Amino acid sequence: MTTVMDDVQARESRYVLQTYRRQPVTFVRGEGVRLYDAEGREYLDLLSGIGVASLGHAHPGLAGAIADQAKTLLHTSNLFFHPLQGEAAERLSSLSGLSRTFFCNSGTEAVEACLKFARRYWYTRGEPRAELIALEGSFHGRTFGALSVTSDEHYRAPFEPLLAGVRWVPANDRAALLAAVSRKTAAIIVEAIQGEGGVRPLTPAFAAAINEASANTGALVIADEIQCGLGRTGHPFHFTAIGLKPHLSSLGKALGGGVPIGAALLSEEVAATISFGDHGSTYGGNLLACRAALVFLHELVDGGLLAHIGRMGRFFEARLKTLAAKHSIVKEVRGAGLIWGLELTRDAAPVVPAGLEQRVIVNRTAETVVRLLPPLVITEPEADEALGRLDAALDDFGRNGGR
Ligand SMILES: Cc1ncc(COP(=O)(O)O)c(C=O)c1O
Repeated sequence: MTTVMDDVQARESRYVLQTYRRQPVTFVRGEGVRLYDAEGREYLDLLSGIGVASLGHAHPGLAGAIADQAKTLLHTSNLFFHPLQGEAAERLSSLSGLSRTFFCNSGTEAVEACLKFARRYWYTRGEPRAELIALEGSFHGRTFGALSVTSDEHYRAPFEPLLAGVRWVPANDRAALLAAVSRKTAAIIVEAIQGEGGVRPLTPAFAAAINEASANTGALVIADEIQCGLGRTGHPFHFTAIGLKPHLSSLGKALGGGVPIGAALLSEEVAATISFGDHGSTYGGNLLACRAALVFLHELVDGGLLAHIGRMGRFFEARLKTLAAKHSIVKEVRGAGLIWGLELTRDAAPVVPAGLEQRVIVNRTAETVVRLLPPLVITEPEADEALGRLDAALDDFGRNGGR
């Protein structure tokens, strides 16, 4: 007897470009932090579609707003005004202190926009600069610009030559950073917590060095907050938590709660150097995407989500440290709020299927790290249950010698 999953997999393997190695599970429904597969099995989601389903699955407020917007007006293009783009930009501006927003459709596009705006800034000033500083362990996306500042050789090699003039600095190495940044540097791009790089936070001392290098040379600072921003650590933007002072910031993932949207935020000084026609997007900031972002931002700020994430962060930290004490394969626990990484003593890949067996969804990144990015609405009883399942998965993993 063939199952729904057999059919889905057979069709995909015949017709879908094979760029993803998927886990053998087909999800068909979700509710809050729970997902249900085609066989009706329930899973606790500690990944939220890689940090996207910020309000959980099938959030009634978001679902209602999306349905209402679909019945009203979805898209008109950026040739015309609509009421929601300015409203979403105003909210982002008051939260971030960066005064203007360019809307696009993904995190990668937001990074791409920031890189272009940094170039444009120097071009407008009549002193073009092309050099970029990026960090080892960074991930900023897969388009040519974003890939050029993504450090993983494996992602980069097949597509070279990429942008010229990128200089690499080890994260948290103050001396290396100060030595690399010069008056040729257009921008320094960093994640306040490196997500794909294994949930590695930048230190406040390193953020201070970035601010100093920027002040000394004029180099712009780009904070990529696509994974660690928008409340994930209990701060609207994590760059504020480490004292980083960016001129540009890229957003995506959590902002639409599952509706694709990205945003590049700009300081007034940078925004003043951009002209009509410099950049654009057909879909960027359409009514559907902005409506979803407004629901998310409302929940985050007015719905008490930020304070909730702070409390949940303390809960996760305590529980994960207990897990680490129990399982000798867990070497280190890193993170804040609702972004956590468990550094293992070996390849973490088998923890993912072991988790699925226990009906908990986690992900492996940077080879040896089990990453948790739960929906921001997760409650203590849900987290308790999910981490109990992860505990059992780590038991299985330890027993089977990591096979
Ligand atoms: C920090 C960071 N920047 C950029 C991206 C790319 O975003 P997207 O895949 O939504 O285009 C990601 C995705 O994981 C990310 O974590």
